[in-house]
Amino acid sequence: MDKKEIIKKLGAMRSSDPCFGGGKIVSSVSTEPLDVALDAWRLYSDVNALDTYLFSSAQKLEKEVMEWLAGMLHGSHAAGYITTGGTESNIAALYAAKKMYPGKREVIVPDSVHYSVLKAADLMGLKVKKTGLDKNFRADVGDIEKALSKDTLAVVATAGTASLGMVDPVEEINGLCGDVFFHVDAAFGGFILPFIVGRVTDFRLDNLDSLTIDPHKMGCAPIPAGALLFRDASYLKELTVQPAYIPITSYTLSGSRSAGAVAAVWATIRCLGLEGYEKNARECLRNTSLLCRELKKVSGAGIVTEPDVNIVGVRLPDIEKTASELRKRGWGIAVNKELSCIRFAVMPHVTREVVLGFIGELKEVLN
Ligand SMILES: Cc1ncc(COP(=O)(O)O)c(C=O)c1O
Repeated sequence: MDKKEIIKKLGAMRSSDPCFGGGKIVSSVSTEPLDVALDAWRLYSDVNALDTYLFSSAQKLEKEVMEWLAGMLHGSHAAGYITTGGTESNIAALYAAKKMYPGKREVIVPDSVHYSVLKAADLMGLKVKKTGLDKNFRADVGDIEKALSKDTLAVVATAGTASLGMVDPVEEINGLCGDVFFHVDAAFGGFILPFIVGRVTDFRLDNLDSLTIDPHKMGCAPIPAGALLFRDASYLKELTVQPAYIPITSYTLSGSRSAGAVAAVWATIRCLGLEGYEKNARECLRNTSLLCRELKKVSGAGIVTEPDVNIVGVRLPDIEKTASELRKRGWGIAVNKELSCIRFAVMPHVTREVVLGFIGELKEVLN
């Protein structure tokens, strides 16, 4: 195939899927990447971030990204790296915990934990102790306290749950974690919570060991781009390996890594800055409140619970049928069977107009 034909074929394939620009994708926690991030990606597309011997500029970019994230998350000594996303970060965090506390085998996770944490435990042969949620779907702290034992390796809490956008009471959980590894999965909430006054979900928690935050979610960077931060660089030392065939030290879970992702995150952060993220966060939270308010006015519809961040569990009458009607009208929605709701992520491309458009079409579908 010649180049033109290849691109034409790919264009045709791509056009069969929806675009974020159209605004109607409300089931995804990613959003449209910035052009500058895509340019940055292309510039670094042939660079392997693993090979810091050959490509030192990628290492410098990654260090700057980490310093910036650490600043936003109040981790004056925090250190970490860019991963492929929340799943890899959560696996790597538990791997670090296992290295630091060999012999301990139990991981305490509230019921709403992301499945990647369960996968991590399974991979490492750790025993999962599930704990309950309160009536607002946040972790029940009393239950965690009861589950703690001399075999507890780690406690994982979530700051912005995948289904309902709830933030576990991390300050109280932090108080229980003096002797165990404490990981906060802020894959979704990490770029929102710093802008909610009174919320402390970051390294100001004195027992927090590690935190997942995803640039490819509310960080607005192209996929794949997650980030894992530890309280300080000593955790990375625990993970360090020295390959025989190349003069580098590596502490990442993957070997070869895309420096394109690193450059794209660097570019996105530089372009938006803290002010840009704060503006996004405020707008998304405003639109989340609007969605919740409007849903309560639609007969038969509603919300599962008032979310802490910009993900809403939307209750609909005759959910499969209603969802299917909405899908026919071009809405990118997904049904959460367990909670009998749809997960509505109010991302930056989900503007006020999109929210009101959804409500309008929902009313038409239900009439
Ligand atoms: C709270 C949370 N943790 C982890 C993940 C996994 O992230 P990824 O899909 O980037 O691996 C998600 C994904 O939605 C999430 O919401």
